[in-house]
Amino acid sequence: MNIHESEKIAGILEDMGYSECADESQADIIVFNTCCIRDNAEKRALGNIGAVKHLKKINPQLILAVVGCMTQQEDAGLTLRQKYPYVDIVLGTNNLFELENCINKLRNSKKKSVLIDPNERPEVREGEKVYRTSGTNAWLNIMYGCNNFCTYCIVPYVRGRERSRKMVNILDEFKRLLDEGYKEITLLGQNVNSYGHDLADGSSFAKLLEEIAKIEGKHRVRFMTSHPKDLNREVIDIIAQSPTICNNIHLPIQSGSNKILQLMNRHYTREYYLDTIDAIKSKIPDCGITTDLMVGFPYETEEDFEDTLDIVRKVKYSSAFTFVYSVRRGTKAALMPQIPPEVSKDRITRLIAEQNKITKELSKTYEGKIFEVLCEDKAPKKEGFVCGRTDSGRLVTFKGDESLIGSFVNVKINKSQSASLFGDIAEE
Ligand code: 5AD
Ligand code: SF4
Repeated sequence: MNIHESEKIAGILEDMGYSECADESQADIIVFNTCCIRDNAEKRALGNIGAVKHLKKINPQLILAVVGCMTQQEDAGLTLRQKYPYVDIVLGTNNLFELENCINKLRNSKKKSVLIDPNERPEVREGEKVYRTSGTNAWLNIMYGCNNFCTYCIVPYVRGRERSRKMVNILDEFKRLLDEGYKEITLLGQNVNSYGHDLADGSSFAKLLEEIAKIEGKHRVRFMTSHPKDLNREVIDIIAQSPTICNNIHLPIQSGSNKILQLMNRHYTREYYLDTIDAIKSKIPDCGITTDLMVGFPYETEEDFEDTLDIVRKVKYSSAFTFVYSVRRGTKAALMPQIPPEVSKDRITRLIAEQNKITKELSKTYEGKIFEVLCEDKAPKKEGFVCGRTDSGRLVTFKGDESLIGSFVNVKINKSQSASLFGDIAEE
């Protein structure tokens, strides 16, 4: 979501005549697109903003802008201006489109801008210019915002309520991206399964996927993120039947303990979640299932944590994003009693070790088999090698040259190393 938003920022700048430069010391403008989902994201953003202060001394014309979630928190925009007075422009998540005006104002009258619109339901904007940076893959927003208010999460406060794009606009953009040569399109939303609920025209995620599945051609579709309470059997069936929709589902469970799930306001139980996983596995046997997991949430006991480990062992995720709970001001969980950091640290270490073991075991099952891989890029730090993903979302590195990028290649896996798979192009 954040990367795609940065592509939109770059699109605005490109339209104004700016072009990408190799490093920040050559820049005429630097835009920081911030995230505040966890404290370390915010600290990193502030650290990065602090680290360019000296550039402003060397080049007083340099424009510094800070945008995104962090600025949208209560008073954060003003605090930012007070603590980092050399920042010229501060824009909230709803004001991104004002970047051009703000830059022009600064150029013409040296006037700085702080624009944070607290509206929880801003209009959905269409026709945004995007400067795409992700090679063969393109990101496509289907909706914005979130209605769920998980008690740990800042997103609904900084991104507002759910707003879906009209299906016709999504399908138009989808087809345009295919015409432009993108081979993989990832549909984006904080909770894609509730797509269309706000439209009152009968749109739903299942209907959208059905329409997308009808679009012919050799390409792949992924989507993120799903909420376990809303991922229904209809959607699972559509994925199972469609050759273009990848057998890959990201289904964040957060915790394996019913007590913690309730405190998190997640609206499902571990039993309900495991039922959904069973349905996925029976309909889509080769599905790559990934998740988000959190440890150290208020009131989490050793027994609750064991429940999370148990889920990890039962589901066998191909990979998982693991997080230590981070207190977010203004959320309900911030008022609950907090877990000592050393307990969280111990749990996250054990959780990562458990997941790594499973990822390694699953990787082994790929060895000796042939998979269709969409070649996406040169392999990092490996001359003469390229990399791409299987339908299930696993990263594969194999020998080949850049001309393969953007094409589908059958690769025989001959080695695995934790999450990484290595192979050779399979003979015809
Ligand atoms: N602390 C830690 N992790 C969080 N996430 C969201 N809010 C927090 C928080 N306060 C994680 C969740 C979510 C992912 C995007 O980030 O696991 O699924
Ligand atoms: Fe945050 Fe929950 Fe919404 Fe995800 S579903 S963005 S975790 S509030």
